[in-house]
Amino acid sequence: MSDNHEGEKLVIFDTTLRDGEQSPGISLDPKEKLEIAEQLARLNVDYIEAGFPVASIGDFEAVQMIAEQVQGPIIAALSRTNLTDVDRCWEALKSAERARIHVFISTSPVHMTNMLKMNEAQVLSETRAGVARAKTYTDDVEFSPQDATRTPLDFMIEVLQAAVDSGANTLNIPDTVGYGIPWDFGALISYIRKSVSGTYILSTHCHNDLGLATANSLAGVQAGARQVEVCVNGLGERAGNAALEEVVMAIKIRGDQFPGISTQIKTEELARTSRLVSRLTGYPIQYNKAVVGRNAFAHESGIHQHGVLSDRTTYEIIDAESVGQKGSQIILGKHSGRHAFSDSLQKMGISLKGDELNTTFTRFKELADRKLDITEADLEAIVAEELQLTTTDTFSLEELHVVGGTVGTPTAKVVLSSSSGKVEASADGNGMIDAAGQAIQKATGISAKLIGFSVSSVTGGVDALGDVVVQLESNGVKVSGKGISTDVVEASARAYLNAINRLSRQLARTSEAQKEVGP
Ligand code: KIV
Ligand code: ZN
Repeated sequence: MSDNHEGEKLVIFDTTLRDGEQSPGISLDPKEKLEIAEQLARLNVDYIEAGFPVASIGDFEAVQMIAEQVQGPIIAALSRTNLTDVDRCWEALKSAERARIHVFISTSPVHMTNMLKMNEAQVLSETRAGVARAKTYTDDVEFSPQDATRTPLDFMIEVLQAAVDSGANTLNIPDTVGYGIPWDFGALISYIRKSVSGTYILSTHCHNDLGLATANSLAGVQAGARQVEVCVNGLGERAGNAALEEVVMAIKIRGDQFPGISTQIKTEELARTSRLVSRLTGYPIQYNKAVVGRNAFAHESGIHQHGVLSDRTTYEIIDAESVGQKGSQIILGKHSGRHAFSDSLQKMGISLKGDELNTTFTRFKELADRKLDITEADLEAIVAEELQLTTTDTFSLEELHVVGGTVGTPTAKVVLSSSSGKVEASADGNGMIDAAGQAIQKATGISAKLIGFSVSSVTGGVDALGDVVVQLESNGVKVSGKGISTDVVEASARAYLNAINRLSRQLARTSEAQKEVGP
């Protein structure tokens, strides 16, 4: 291997469809695998390990389909050292534009004794035979000594040398059980580079049992590895493999630590790839997952929000758009400060200053203490209330009766009080909430279109308060209303009436203004 690391490419070997598919509970059919492989090609990975053809008919078919149809990356497939496995592996791969056979055998004492029932001489001879057979099919042969990090060094070097001498041009060092520690794993890679002669690329394959898969892969790269085996979203056996997006972005963002080394990944495709893999595997993306998690660019604390609003780089080392994510997201919540609050209002076209800003901010903080998510409608409602747009309500709810269920038409009756006495009305609807809304419109004589409706709980648990926000529109005027109750239908009726009261004041103001202007 060369010692000059400047201007070198780091090969990205994606094994989402092979090791990633070995995650408990994941089973992708060949068409789903093809969809992921096509996205991996758009992401521009160098290799797609498409499966382990001998493992099942489905795996064979998936590798075959991907080999036939996916352009761009080199298609790889896994094989044990025995010759029928290698033949079957090639059978699946043979129509690929470019193909690699990845041959492996266990080399640690615990695997050799308990699984293989082979001694060292037998493992050596299997290695030679398997690699040589693969070489008859393709020039591109990778060899992995499984459980490398628990294999005695001298024996591993002997096996790796045998693999190179038999034709392997990539030596992959699997930390199969995630036992490695970064400096120890890095030292292992350096030692192999010094000890195994010939022309080959060293590769890392790190599992995440101690949460160190990304760190170990990077240590391997620093020590001379020029291929990393990774999975999208860090999928893989048990705790998974090194996450593709983490390794790629670490190399990109901390180029100072990896001088001259780069990948060819189109990082703007990372978030989309992550979402696709999550959707097809059914494995959710952890909210706080590095790079692709939904919180990776979200800021809640007031100090952080202030910093990010002044300059993104204050609290972000990655430009969200460079990984296909939405830019700095300011999450309004109880930790938010005045700066973020006023910025959010400005984005909604509301500009407040001085006392107005102070009072609405105080009101916002009170609400944020009770409510997890503050929506735009909440902000609008707070602003409207605090700016005295809500003086006295025209109508207030006295009684609500609703009847609904799986049989018959839902109906509602409301009794409202107003300055001119009580009014009541009944109406049908396509649900109990709709019926309550229709009854309120009839009783008030104000008709409006429902354009927004959301329910959330103020707290968790069975006694959670339902917090309903509705948005209504009438003659181009949009208003929102809020209602809270332990009963969602009642909360909805209150929200509806709250919005109707705002609408009635708004309409009254408009007609006053018209009178002042005169005909
Ligand atoms: O973890 C491992 O050892 C593997 C090999 C088959 C490379 O996945
Ligand atoms: Zn593995």
